[in-house]
Amino acid sequence: MANLGNPRCALVAQQTPPWLSFPLLLLLLLLLTQADPGTRRSFVVDRDNDRFLLDGAPFRYVSGSLHYFRVPPVLWADRLNKMRMSGLNAIQFYVPWNYHEPERGVYNFEGSRDLIAFLTEASLANLYVILRPGPYICAEWEMGGLPAWLLQNPKIRLRTSDPLFLEAVDSWFKVLLPKIYPWLYHNGGNIISIQVENEYGSFGVCDTSYMKHLTGLFRTILGKEILLFTTDGPEGLQCGSLQELYTTVDFGPADNISKIFALLRKYEPRGPMVNSEYYTGWLDYWGQNHSVRPAPAVTKSLEKMLSLGASVNMYMFHGGTNFGYWNGADEKGRFLPITTSYDYDAPISEAGDPTPKLFAIRNVISKFQEIPLGPLPPPSPKMKFGPLTLRLIGDLLGFLDILCPQGPVHSILPLTFEAIKQDHGFVLYQTVLTVTIAELTEFWVPKNGIHDRAYVILDGVFQGVLERDMKNKLFLTGKVGTKLDIVVENMGRLSFGSNCSDFKGLLEPPVLGDLILTNWLMYPLNVDKLVKWWIPLQLKNKLNSRPLPSPSGPVFFSTTFSILSSGGDTFLYLPGWTKGQVWINGFNLGRYWTKRGPQETLYVPRPLLNQGVSNKIILLELENVPAKPQIQFLDTPILNSTSHKTFIYSLLTDTQSVPEPMELSGH
Ligand SMILES: *[C@@H]1O[C@H](CO)[C@@H](O)[C@H](O)[C@H]1NC(C)=O
Ligand SMILES: *[C@@H]1O[C@H](CO)[C@@H](O)[C@H](O)[C@H]1NC(C)=O
Ligand SMILES: *[C@@H]1O[C@H](CO)[C@@H](O)[C@H](O)[C@H]1NC(C)=O
Ligand SMILES: *[C@@H]1O[C@H](CO)[C@@H](O)[C@H](O)[C@H]1NC(C)=O
Repeated sequence: MANLGNPRCALVAQQTPPWLSFPLLLLLLLLLTQADPGTRRSFVVDRDNDRFLLDGAPFRYVSGSLHYFRVPPVLWADRLNKMRMSGLNAIQFYVPWNYHEPERGVYNFEGSRDLIAFLTEASLANLYVILRPGPYICAEWEMGGLPAWLLQNPKIRLRTSDPLFLEAVDSWFKVLLPKIYPWLYHNGGNIISIQVENEYGSFGVCDTSYMKHLTGLFRTILGKEILLFTTDGPEGLQCGSLQELYTTVDFGPADNISKIFALLRKYEPRGPMVNSEYYTGWLDYWGQNHSVRPAPAVTKSLEKMLSLGASVNMYMFHGGTNFGYWNGADEKGRFLPITTSYDYDAPISEAGDPTPKLFAIRNVISKFQEIPLGPLPPPSPKMKFGPLTLRLIGDLLGFLDILCPQGPVHSILPLTFEAIKQDHGFVLYQTVLTVTIAELTEFWVPKNGIHDRAYVILDGVFQGVLERDMKNKLFLTGKVGTKLDIVVENMGRLSFGSNCSDFKGLLEPPVLGDLILTNWLMYPLNVDKLVKWWIPLQLKNKLNSRPLPSPSGPVFFSTTFSILSSGGDTFLYLPGWTKGQVWINGFNLGRYWTKRGPQETLYVPRPLLNQGVSNKIILLELENVPAKPQIQFLDTPILNSTSHKTFIYSLLTDTQSVPEPMELSGH
């Protein structure tokens, strides 16, 4: 849907029967506003009666979270419409700073980042908006939404009143907040309230002047009228709440509602109870079991909260996908990156389909407020095809001149990603052995200094992997002059916890035996640019180099295919592949990690595939290639393989019968 540019249009759409056309609407609007100039749009807390008032009438929101940055823009309207049809009257979403300001002072609000188009779609779907612009958002998003370039000054103290941080925040909000000002409810838009920061009480620093600074900034740009609030878990209320901001809480189905609401009353003695993140499901980490929250538990507590008169936002109502490199990570005993799927076991699945949980929730909502008439749209069509055999294009190191045309940065000791201004993806660290190591010798990086995963290559031969908190040494031999290449992967910056300064790369110089390795060349690799460059060229395998039998280490594979049917959503399954990144028609679908699970398939939304004409898929496999370098497209996702089933591919490569290619021609 085009950006209407005028929030007034959006406002009218709140009451729009589908047969009304826009010009007619505009005319009606003009007449209405002129006919009734006394109507004041307002959304306020009614402390006397412990409720919200919308335009003076009692109001309660039943809201759901959905993140525009996790859903392709062409599908926004579809998802929002389904949320409205589920009985929700509002949506809640974050604005990720790092998605919109990729470099300091460079802003992007186009395409998938078109916040105004998304607000417009929400209005057309008849949904109010609860906005959470951060600056920190968590969201299991890379660095909790903070831009990695903040770490170019390693001394910065994020989420505090450190002037280095505040200066960057102020500049960003001076761009963002004026854009949303016309969208505030009392200005004619659909934003009824705005959250300041996010779960600040869980951060541990408790810098009240930082929260006060943010509040002042919001008030200066957005004015006095808009309802500002905070959200914290029960244990975070102490540090996260602030006198001037309405206090809300977040908790899940297993928590004790009356106990938590009683605690909330200590911070907010009057006004409506609000659970700003009621967990319908939970996130997944690579290497851990898939999370599920059974529907009966979710609906039981929802019903209880609604019967207490609370306003509730369900997190997530539709989770979506961490495309590209955007997933965050947690630190729980060890570094735990979040999976590409953000399905979240939410009421609307990752592919946008209603689940049994949705119908159960809708049934509960219908006991408290009117829900729109009419059935929910059925699940979208799905398709399966394959297997397709991929061809080796060549190894990553063979394309250095394209991956890093500007050439490497030289330094005696290795530098971090941040120091060489590479935010995401991969950096190649290269040096040359200055002594001969005849016996197998321990190679390691002190202080767990690999952030996050290193692919080690000696004179072009893959030696193995080192991984933060998981695998800290390899054994190597080599002659003087042997080239040592280490491709380091950023697996996603920490998005939660008391230290979000999660630097990437080799944080300490590697050690071989008792020798500290120095004299490093660092190549920031622009893999996505290389992939884009390949699309029109239809690259052939002759380009480069390594003999085929069992290529290992970072290598590119590719194929093209056509879909002759009417198409549908599909799920890319990579049996036997280990870990890597995958692109379809140049779009970065995200990371796969078949060998670790629990996610085994990647969601491929139907708009990414071209009907009839050729589609190109490119894989960057980082470790080991299966005997049969094949992929398949399935019609159902596999998100729940268990972590201990490590070598799932040995079960599948040879024995599993795979469907014959259907309506498909591989090139
Ligand atoms: C919930 O908390 C209240 C107040 O602390 C307590 O009386 C009640 O027993 C708790 N309920 C459950 C199920 O634990
Ligand atoms: C993961 O799931 C498996 C199989 O259901 C189970 O045996 C295992 O205990 C689970 N692990 C954890 C940490 O819950
Ligand atoms: C946070 O972690 C980084 C390593 O990524 C470390 O350099 C830094 O000192 C830590 N900061 C704090 C405040 O603990
Ligand atoms: C994964 O989920 C599917 C679909 O819900 C289910 O049939 C299957 O048993 C689950 N597998 C595991 C290992 O839990």
